Amino acid sequence: MIHIDRLIAEMTLAEKLGQLTMTAADYAVTGPVITPLSEDAIRSGTIGNLLNLYGSGPTRRIQKIAIEESRLHIPLLLGFDALHGHRTIFPIPLAEAGLFDPAAWESTARVAAEECAGDGLHMTFAPMLDVSRDPRWGRIAEGPGEDPFVGSAFARAKIRGFQNTSLADVGAVAACAKHFAGYGAVTAGREYASTDMSEGMLREVYLPPFRAAVKAGVAAIMPAFTDLNDVPMTANVPLLRDVLRGEFGFDGVIISDYHAIAELLNHGVAGDLAEAAALALNAGVDIDMMSDAYRVGLPVALQRNLVAMDDIDAAVYRVLALKERLDLFQDPYRRGRADTGVTAQSRALARAVGARTLVLLKNDGNTLPLAARKIAVIGPLADAGGDMRGPWGGAGRPEDCVSVLQGLMEAGLDVRHVPGVAIDGDDLSGVATALDLCTDADAILLCLGEAALMSGEAASRANLGLPGRQQELADAVFEKAAGKPVGVVLFSGRPLAVPELVSRAHAVLAAWFPGCEAGHSIADVLTGKVSPCGRTPVSWPRTGGQVPIFFGERPGGRPFNPNDHFTSHYSDVENTPLFPFGYGLSYGDFELSNLRVEPGDPLSVKVDVANRGALPAEETVFLFLNQKKPGVTRALLELKGFGKISLNPSEQGTVTLTLPPPTGRAELFVGPNAAFSSLLSLSI
Ligand code: BGC
Repeated sequence: MIHIDRLIAEMTLAEKLGQLTMTAADYAVTGPVITPLSEDAIRSGTIGNLLNLYGSGPTRRIQKIAIEESRLHIPLLLGFDALHGHRTIFPIPLAEAGLFDPAAWESTARVAAEECAGDGLHMTFAPMLDVSRDPRWGRIAEGPGEDPFVGSAFARAKIRGFQNTSLADVGAVAACAKHFAGYGAVTAGREYASTDMSEGMLREVYLPPFRAAVKAGVAAIMPAFTDLNDVPMTANVPLLRDVLRGEFGFDGVIISDYHAIAELLNHGVAGDLAEAAALALNAGVDIDMMSDAYRVGLPVALQRNLVAMDDIDAAVYRVLALKERLDLFQDPYRRGRADTGVTAQSRALARAVGARTLVLLKNDGNTLPLAARKIAVIGPLADAGGDMRGPWGGAGRPEDCVSVLQGLMEAGLDVRHVPGVAIDGDDLSGVATALDLCTDADAILLCLGEAALMSGEAASRANLGLPGRQQELADAVFEKAAGKPVGVVLFSGRPLAVPELVSRAHAVLAAWFPGCEAGHSIADVLTGKVSPCGRTPVSWPRTGGQVPIFFGERPGGRPFNPNDHFTSHYSDVENTPLFPFGYGLSYGDFELSNLRVEPGDPLSVKVDVANRGALPAEETVFLFLNQKKPGVTRALLELKGFGKISLNPSEQGTVTLTLPPPTGRAELFVGPNAAFSSLLSLSI
């Protein structure tokens, strides 16, 4: 890219640092705008990248300033978070991970990319690839769940979806995989706290999705806010330079997280902004998001010989090369020709994907699909369209979202609704009216859980139960119901610890946050139009005290033996989760048999699946491996594959999964979830 070299040779230091700076737009009532100050900076070439500005009008206007009024006419790069949709909001990533369906993961990213591009954006700060085993951490909602194999498959699909076959494609946006690395393991699940883990754990669990992202050609990577083993990720030379750039071969752009370079002072590793800027640049961070550390600090750092001009130039090169790959130099206005909005087609996808992400946790006596037509819909999340967007609403509008109530009414059910209590708070005065509603109904549906903003960034929770007085509302309804079926639709950005609720309800549907078509998706499943097929990508604890809880544990020297007190256990709760990884019922009834392996490289692992139930449904099958390695311990189960099959009643089929031949002896496990009792096994 000779013209980039030529451009860099022409640039002043201030213009170079402008290309390494990303500034946020402000919001006005009419939408995103930027301040006159920032416009001047764009004119003078000292801001080269923006976040949080979208819409064909505003993006075109601001791009025009860069192209027509700045000395070197370098196009701006515009980025925005589209974690689970842009205008059309799809289920939160944790819910989507439970589809175990790479084609579906890709399809929602594709729509999000088209919508971002239509709005004049060039980059999205997604996918979020932080594996997490701690539901206290609110950002578990944004990621792929507890397993690195799932995280890696999720990474590949999302990057294909966002970036399409070429970044130059008019409907493609650059993906920015985040947050590298280990953020999902913050101490005690508390947001922004430190992380500390062995090299083995880092490589086995937290790095694989990022390696997969790099292999899939991800354009950008964002380091985590957190420090890992004493070194802040924003200044982490071994991980950013040696592992990410060296070992993984990443040559794209590294963008700091919001204000993260300035926060190196709080971490206690930098004395002033110049030192912070030098630490980040020397670790390989190309773009400074919102610290203004590069523009203010790097000139001072240069004077102090803390950084070299060659490293600044190399960072500028990477930023300009990305703009080139996005084809911005040729045609800076090619994206953002017309605003996009929610369309009938994108809604149809959101509805279908939303329905498939719902996880049926319990269904005693086939309570679902609902036979009754006259339903008391109780709870604060029944009429909460805006919350259905989840914690990263993107550019989705609350008025575009379908509530459960609306969905059920449109499905033709006779519904009456009273919230009973608020999501949070102490007021129980509405409970009596809610109970009155139960008298006259054939069935009761409780819509309970978290508000959208109780998960996501800065939303850690130490208590994993229902917020506010919702459990009391539920208990009162269970008393009052006196035998009438009571189903629960549970909304959350994380697995909740709600054993009493689950044991008293006849049916429980974990809905996470299904997105803008929530009400339709939920009605489709409750009425039996769609058989639920979502599987939880993360273990559900019985109590917060079990956290972190995940299937990939090592056996330890004293694995639990009920007949031996001195083996690994709690004295007050079982070791197992309430619902294991992969758990989820359907309206079918599946039986797995005849596990076999056919030789080859890869091996073909086959299992027969029969639907013994009365309704068509989809089954998900997981392949785990247990391998021994001399001198080191390994997880009892390592996920190596997953597959799906749709079967009519009495139909039988075969799922085939592939596996690279393991070195040495190993045991294979195949089943519908990670609970040992549900698995078929075979030694190979
Ligand atoms: C978050 C990032 C996000 C950025 C820009 C930060 O607070 O940690 O995940 O991409 O803001 O919105």
